[in-house]
Amino acid sequence: MTAAWKSRPGLFRIGLLLCATGAVSGRFQLQPLNSTVLQGSDARFNATVLGNWQLMTWTVREYLVLNFPVGGNVTSSSERFTASFCSSGDTSCVQFTIHKVNRSADAGPVVCRVLGDYGSETAQLHVQESGTVDIQGGNVTVEQDQQVEFRCVTSAWFPAAAVSWTRNGRAVNSSLYNTTSVADGEAFNSTSVLSFQAVSNAMVECQATVLSLTRPQSSSVFLVVVPKPPDWTVLIAVVVSIGGVALLVLLIIGIIFCCKLREEKQPNYQDEMRRARTQSQMSGGNAAGQRQGQENAGYLPEDQTSVAPSKLADSGFSQTSASEVHEVAWNTNQAGNDYSAAHITVGESGVKKHRHVTIV
Ligand SMILES: *[C@@H]1O[C@H](CO)[C@@H](O)[C@H](O)[C@H]1NC(C)=O
Ligand SMILES: *[C@@H]1O[C@H](CO)[C@@H](O)[C@H](O)[C@H]1NC(C)=O
Ligand SMILES: *[C@@H]1O[C@H](CO)[C@@H](O)[C@H](O)[C@H]1NC(C)=O
Ligand SMILES: *[C@@H]1O[C@H](CO)[C@@H](O)[C@H](O)[C@H]1NC(C)=O
Ligand SMILES: *[C@@H]1O[C@H](CO)[C@@H](O)[C@H](O)[C@H]1NC(C)=O
Repeated sequence: MTAAWKSRPGLFRIGLLLCATGAVSGRFQLQPLNSTVLQGSDARFNATVLGNWQLMTWTVREYLVLNFPVGGNVTSSSERFTASFCSSGDTSCVQFTIHKVNRSADAGPVVCRVLGDYGSETAQLHVQESGTVDIQGGNVTVEQDQQVEFRCVTSAWFPAAAVSWTRNGRAVNSSLYNTTSVADGEAFNSTSVLSFQAVSNAMVECQATVLSLTRPQSSSVFLVVVPKPPDWTVLIAVVVSIGGVALLVLLIIGIIFCCKLREEKQPNYQDEMRRARTQSQMSGGNAAGQRQGQENAGYLPEDQTSVAPSKLADSGFSQTSASEVHEVAWNTNQAGNDYSAAHITVGESGVKKHRHVTIV
């Protein structure tokens, strides 16, 4: 035995197994010794037997499932187990197939035994399960630059699914997600949380896989990024400060304008006085109708108290006599602080008003 390992180091494991049965090494091989397949698919094992042999048996999880006599009909416990020569006419190679592998029924040791001096070979069958994958919550709409989180849940996988993410078809750096798995008796559920800052629209895909799966299972959603609404506090602050500055500037302009206006009015007052004098000279002897003063619209003569102020403003003067006009002029002049000159001329048709108002 020891010599056999040394001369054929590649068959170390087989040699070990043969030790137990005392079979002759090198004349019987089983391949592969480890097989990993997906639930529902087929598992195949090849047994190579050199020399003359009569009967081969196959045992799955300690149940004898198939008899293969070299020159007769194959008998099996189920249609799921079949065996045939690898190529017709060549008795040195037999292929054993387990169809529609079921993890609970088939996973475990697969033993091939050849009657005679060959003994048995044992392989291990591993069955994986592909479950479901789902990004919870569906499509997501967020504001620009907001942190966005996606949660991908895989369930009923065996072993635990390897989860990865893609964004617009490109792999996402694994530092952006965390995956935790929980064993649920027979299978694993896992949750992967991806979190990143939303920059632009994207298709986000969660992929889950196990070794025997040729194409990963996936779930995808769309990330819609909308522009950030304006920051009202900043906007208000800006408007308020700009408004304040504008108001200040307006105030300064207003003050300057007022000062200039006052300066310009000074000569105008002189002009006004000159014109007033000229007019008073022109209307000469009609002294009764001439006085300088301000029209006092609010003045009500003693005998006209019943006249409404509005009516007085319109037609009041046409009804007043010259003496009353005198009184008006005198009263306003008594006020002392009036800087205007008014001429009220009484003609045949009534009262003519000439008003020259000047503010000093
Ligand atoms: C194999 O099976 C066929 C039909 O199923 C039968 O005719 C034949 O005799 C069998 N051969 C042996 C060796 O049992
Ligand atoms: C997500 O968005 C895509 C593309 O806009 C759309 O086709 C799909 O129906 C949406 N899915 C859900 C669940 O709203
Ligand atoms: C992933 O991100 C980390 C830290 O952010 C960085 O050091 C690393 O280079 C990135 N890997 C790839 C493949 O971009
Ligand atoms: C992943 O988990 C670690 C530790 O629990 C944490 O520091 C890290 O921020 C997580 N990353 C993500 C993307 O959730
Ligand atoms: C795993 O997921 C399935 C289906 O979603 C659920 O019924 C089960 O309770 C989950 N198991 C654990 C341990 O979370």
